[in-house]
Amino acid sequence: MQRLAVLIVTILFLSATVVLAVPAKKTIEFTKSPMGVVTFDGTLHKEAGNKCKDCHNTEMFPKMKQGTVTITMDEIYAGNLCGVCHNGDRAFDAKSNCARCHVKK
Ligand code: HEC
Ligand code: HEC
Ligand code: HEC
Repeated sequence: MQRLAVLIVTILFLSATVVLAVPAKKTIEFTKSPMGVVTFDGTLHKEAGNKCKDCHNTEMFPKMKQGTVTITMDEIYAGNLCGVCHNGDRAFDAKSNCARCHVKK
């Protein structure tokens, strides 16, 4: 009985870490902009207090898969996608901080 409880706790613990480890250790690179590569850091965004659903919802990034949403600055400036937060309110403003996202390599 006790071993069964330990097993269940272990399985719950492992499945929880698998779910959380995906974005936390992951960085995604967006390479299409002439302004330079944008590196999205999953750990940084998680530590900033964001939950998966803050971004993975029907309005923003429905799929947990890179390349399913086309990101443009028009969308960001309009307060969509990354711009839901990068508007100077929840996070730094996209309009005056190009180089905090775009890095020329
Ligand atoms: C601040 C926004 C944000 C948060 C919070 C976030 N994600 Fe993501 N995630 C993204 C974006 C943007 C993409 C790329 C989507 C696209 O290109 O269509 C992505 C992609 C992914 C991918 C695919 C990676 C790949 O290489 O294809 C996985 C898996 C994922 N997220 C899991 C999670 C999980 C699990 C959480 C919560 C612990 C989470 N994400 C939280 C923004 C976020
Ligand atoms: C749910 C809110 C949210 C969304 C959506 C979001 N971010 Fe962020 N992001 C933050 C917060 C909070 C920080 C921490 C810095 C701050 O407070 O301004 C941050 C920091 C960053 C940084 C670090 C910059 C630096 O100088 O430290 C980059 C780069 C970045 N975000 C890119 C993106 C990109 C690209 C997207 C869209 C794919 C995105 N973010 C979507 C909330 C968000
Ligand atoms: C919060 C992060 C972030 C900030 C700040 C940001 N961008 Fe972007 N930008 C992106 C992402 C993500 C893409 C999509 C790149 C891709 O798909 O490979 C993009 C795409 C672009 C593109 C190509 C697509 C389009 O809409 O024309 C240009 C040009 C661009 N950015 C210019 C800028 C300029 C100029 C600034 C500053 C005034 C800026 N960006 C600030 C994240 C950001």
